[in-house]
Amino acid sequence: MQNELITVMGATGNTGYEITKRLLAAGHRVRALGRSQDKLAELTAAGAETAAGDAADPTFLTEAFRGSAAVYTLLPIDVTWADYHAEVGVIGSAVVEAVRVAGIRHVVALSSLGAELPTGTGFLTSLHAQEQRWSALPEVNVLLLRPGLFFESFRAALGMIETEGINGDSVDPDVRIPMIATRDIAEAAATALATRDWHGIVVRELLGQRDLSYREATAILGAAMGRPALPYVQFDYDAMTHALIESGFSQNVASQHVAMTQAFNENRVVPLRGRTPDNTTPTRFEDFAAELFEAHRRPS
Ligand SMILES: NC(=O)c1ccc[n+]([C@@H]2O[C@H](COP(=O)([O-])OP(=O)(O)OC[C@H]3O[C@@H](n4cnc5c(N)ncnc54)[C@H](OP(=O)(O)O)[C@@H]3O)[C@@H](O)[C@H]2O)c1
Repeated sequence: MQNELITVMGATGNTGYEITKRLLAAGHRVRALGRSQDKLAELTAAGAETAAGDAADPTFLTEAFRGSAAVYTLLPIDVTWADYHAEVGVIGSAVVEAVRVAGIRHVVALSSLGAELPTGTGFLTSLHAQEQRWSALPEVNVLLLRPGLFFESFRAALGMIETEGINGDSVDPDVRIPMIATRDIAEAAATALATRDWHGIVVRELLGQRDLSYREATAILGAAMGRPALPYVQFDYDAMTHALIESGFSQNVASQHVAMTQAFNENRVVPLRGRTPDNTTPTRFEDFAAELFEAHRRPS
């Protein structure tokens, strides 16, 4: 099976990069997809085939997927989109169409906790729509990975921590959320892409090492950064929307973020199956926080 091609969308991003590296290290033939050959150059040097193009283009994707024994797919986010669901829907449709036309039999699709909910979850509503698109392709074996909140989401807080001495968002400080390192998602995805040991449409939740509140996560970040008293401040929804717009988000994408945080606060984004050894993954937020701070301090 090692000679069979595995194609990875978003190979310069959080999950796709880690998946590509894992598959290459295990000796697989990998085609890494992104938007820019320059950004893909490191993966070319590591032994991947690469292809750069726009995921909204089904012709590009069909050619990029063709000949693959398995494909990893995701929906990218552009914070400047005027209408998030419309833009990402074009990409989601292109991905499913390309899988159909290229005759792919196994797909590992990145989704999210909460994707079972059709409305009221901001960004996650588009992942629900994408899961529905997959269910219209019964001949394809699709593993829907539903992780919790990425640890990497806290990268965006570093600027605020340094300039304002706080971490802030519109999430309730004490609501506990499954949070996960993207490397742990990559481990699950890479294993599935290589083994292709499921049939039909299968949902797999990935809950990280433990649930954490934003207050707890902020304290861990603060400890790693030598700021043990770093406070977490909950912004109201309007203030958070305005802060995101100030930082370059469109009004619409800012609203998606805030709607997702409201869904967290109302305990609507929760695992369907509860925590078990199978959906618990190893990386601790403490280890991530230490690495994040190290990487941030290192001159680029
Ligand atoms: N953040 C969370 O807590 C969380 C939780 C659950 C699920 N998710 C889901 O995870 C997904 C994001 O995954 P990720 O973090 O691994 O990705 P990511 O780090 O955001 O990277 C996105 C990748 O897609 C590429 N890309 C962006 N726009 C593209 C386009 N128009 N055409 C082709 N390629 C494009 C990027 O290339 P460049 O390098 O050129 O930009 C990059 O390789 C989203 O669907 C999100 O909803 C996120």
